[in-house]
Amino acid sequence: MNVIFLGPPGAGKGTQAVRVCERLGIPQISTGDILRRAIKDQTPTGLAAKSYIDKGQLVPDSVVIDIVRERLERDDCKAGYLLDGFPRTVLQAEALETFAKIDAVVDIDVSDEKLVERLSGRRVCLSCGGTYHVAHLNGSTTCEKCGEQLIQRDDDKAETVLSRLSVYHAQTEPLIDFYTQRGLIKKVDGAQPMDECYAAILAGLGV
Ligand code: AP5
Ligand code: MG
Repeated sequence: MNVIFLGPPGAGKGTQAVRVCERLGIPQISTGDILRRAIKDQTPTGLAAKSYIDKGQLVPDSVVIDIVRERLERDDCKAGYLLDGFPRTVLQAEALETFAKIDAVVDIDVSDEKLVERLSGRRVCLSCGGTYHVAHLNGSTTCEKCGEQLIQRDDDKAETVLSRLSVYHAQTEPLIDFYTQRGLIKKVDGAQPMDECYAAILAGLGV
């Protein structure tokens, strides 16, 4: 099954993608994670992407389209994949249609107010991708899965979060219509607790 997770920053795409991918035995392809790794490794793509990400803006379409096109050619995508955070513009969605056949688009919906609270308290592990919220960490600063130090993402600072939200509404939200027209949208209430949200996603996907 080839699935897209759509939704605003902080909706829980990454959190749910890890569980859904484990369950379905398919790879999670997060363009955000790929770009952050490229920044960490100081590759040319990473250096070019950093200024956009730090401002809460989208990286140019051509850059992310090339990343995803190449990634989907790998063998582990033959039995399906989950795209987390791609596409994010109509142009990216149109490009994707030229090299992929999508079966379902899960739209995880959460109010802006809740998103700001989630993102400002998020802590992540850059080593394994583990995602946490300070409210559940009980003061711990290390990753439960691999023991590495947790950090706050640079783009989770208050002013950048607001800019990411407005970019989402202007550039990514139109994709809900785009995929509704194609009969692919499965809407999920992302404000519910994580387990309920997970169950709703599986039900939406019919698995
Ligand atoms: P990306 O890394 O994709 O960030 P994003 O879309 O802004 O989404 P997030 O990762 O912030 O949120 P999420 O939905 O994964 O939520 P999470 O599960 O972590 O992109 C970063 C940047 O890269 C972009 O701004 C852009 O510059 C660039 N980029 C990436 N893709 C691009 C593309 N296609 N085109 C152009 N540029 C691109 O959860 C958030 C928090 O909430 C966590 O603390 C979590 O523990 C908590 N939480 C999750 N679910 C629940 C729940 N049900 N109840 C309570 N808390 C919850
Ligand atoms: Mg994410």
